[in-house]
Amino acid sequence: MTRKIASIVGGRPATGAAAGVLTSTNPSRLEDVVAEVSLATGATFASACAAAKRAQPSWADVPAPVRGRAIAAMSRIVEANKESLARLITRELGKPMTEALGEVQEIIDTCDFFLGEGRRLYGQTVPSEMPDKQLFTFRVPVGTAAVVTAGNFPVAVPSWYLVPALVTGNTVVWKPAEYAAASAMALFELLQAAGLPDGVLNIVFADGAATFEGLGEALAAGTVDKIGFTGSTEVGARIGELAGRHLQSPCLELGGKNPMVITPSADLELAVEGALFSGFGTAGQRCTSLGTVIVHESVHDEFLARFGSAVSAAGVGDPAQDVVYGPMLDEKFARRYEEYLGWIQPHHKILGSSGVGKISGSNPRAGFAGDPEAGLFYHPVIVDGLLPGDALFRQETFGPIVGVMTYGRLEEAIALANEPGYGLSSSIYSGNPREVFAFRRGISAGMVSVNNSTSGAEAHLPFGGNGKSGNGSRQSGIWVLDQFTRWQAMNWDYSGHLQKAQMDVAELVPDLDFRLTS
Ligand code: UN1
Repeated sequence: MTRKIASIVGGRPATGAAAGVLTSTNPSRLEDVVAEVSLATGATFASACAAAKRAQPSWADVPAPVRGRAIAAMSRIVEANKESLARLITRELGKPMTEALGEVQEIIDTCDFFLGEGRRLYGQTVPSEMPDKQLFTFRVPVGTAAVVTAGNFPVAVPSWYLVPALVTGNTVVWKPAEYAAASAMALFELLQAAGLPDGVLNIVFADGAATFEGLGEALAAGTVDKIGFTGSTEVGARIGELAGRHLQSPCLELGGKNPMVITPSADLELAVEGALFSGFGTAGQRCTSLGTVIVHESVHDEFLARFGSAVSAAGVGDPAQDVVYGPMLDEKFARRYEEYLGWIQPHHKILGSSGVGKISGSNPRAGFAGDPEAGLFYHPVIVDGLLPGDALFRQETFGPIVGVMTYGRLEEAIALANEPGYGLSSSIYSGNPREVFAFRRGISAGMVSVNNSTSGAEAHLPFGGNGKSGNGSRQSGIWVLDQFTRWQAMNWDYSGHLQKAQMDVAELVPDLDFRLTS
C-alpha cells in the first residue's frame, strides 16, 4: 500500500502551494513505493512556525503534570503499536526487525523518562544575602522549537527532541527526512493521539532548501525560538550560522568518525563482536557507527584475522530475515557511499566480503539473504592499513566500511582517535583501568564506551558531541532540559524598604589573625 502524506499544520492538512511530490521507496525492494509525499514550500514551513507560536502560550498554561500525563499516554500508545511501527521502519528504511523494534523501544524509554518530568521541572529556592528577601529559580519554556531530523533513526532520534520539548511547555514544528516520511507520519499520529491540542505539534515535509528558507523567514518573524537539528556537519554549520544571526544557539547533533581503540590487554573476541555491531549494524549509517579501529601493533594481525572472518560470515540482505544489516537507507546514501569507496587506495588491504560495492548477480556476496538486485545492498568492507593522511581516515563515511590502523603507545592511539576532529562517540577495549582512564581523559568525544561498541547509547544519558560532531549541546536525560527551557531568576523583597544587594548586607567580623596556641 502506498500512503499519501502531506504536512499537518494547526491540526489540519497544510494548504498552500505544494513544492512537488516525492516518493519514499522501500530500499530493499525499490519497486515498492511506501509513500507519496507532498512537499511544502518555505512559506508553508514559516506558516507552521507561526501557528506553533500562536498555540504556545496556552500549551504552556496546561499544568506541567498534565503535560506529563500526555507523555505517559504517548508511551502507552507507542508501546501498543510497537510491532506495526517497527514493520513500517523496516519497510521504509531497511533496518532489520530487531533493530527497528529497538528503535521504537527508544521512544518508549524516552517517554518513560520524561513523563515524570511533568511532576518535577524543579526550580530552586535560594537564600538571599539580606533578611526578608527570598530568591527563586524557574524553568521557562523557550517557546517554539523547529526540529529537523535525519532518517537513519526516523522516530527514536526525533522523540529525543519532541518529547522533552513538549513536556516543558514548548510547541514544535517537526521537519523529518523526506525519505522517512511514512515512519515520521506514523510517529506524528501516535503522539497526536495522546490528545495534544491543535498546533502544539506540527509536521512539515519539505526539502532542505525550502526548510532553510522557511527557517530564515520564521527566525526573522520571531516565530522560532530554538532549532534542533540532526544531520550532516556541513548543514549543521549553516544552521548554526543562521541561528547565530538571531542570537540563538541551536541543539546540533552532527556526524561522527567514531574510533575504537584496542589495547594489548583487550578481550579480542569481545572487541570483534563490538566492531561488527557498531561498524556494520544499520549498514554503518548511524551517527555512532564505528569509523576506525586503532589497534595495538602486537594484536593487530590476530584482531584483523578474526574481524575479517566475522564480517565475511555476517548475514547481509533482506531485513525481514536474520541479518546483521540490510540495504542503504535511500538512493542518496547509496550514491554517496560509492564515492567513499573511491577513496580506497593501493596501499590499503581489503577484507570482509567477496567483492566491493553494490551486491549483484555479477558481484555476489556469499550467503546473501534474498534478491540483491531488488534493493540497495552493498558489500561490507574492512580497509586495513589506513594512514593519517587518508580521506578514509579523516572523513565520515556513512555506510558499511570500517578502517583499521595500528599504534604503538597509548598516547599515539588517543591522538589518532582525536585527529579527524569529530567527537561524538568512542570506544576502548582494554582490561587495564589505567589505559581506560587515560583514554577517557584524552579523548575529545562526548561519549566513551569501555569494552562496548561505539553505538547503543541509552536513552537517559547525555547524547551529543564536540568539534565537527556538534556545538556541545546534549540531548536525552535531564541534560536536554537546558535545551528547551531557560532559567528565570526571581527575587522577592518583602522587608518593606529597598535593600541594596552587596551594599546593605550585614557583616560578621572575623578575627583572621587567630591562631591556635602551640
Ligand atoms: C544516531 O545515530 O543518530 O547509540 C543515534 C545508538 C542509538 C542512537 C544513535 N541509540 O546507536
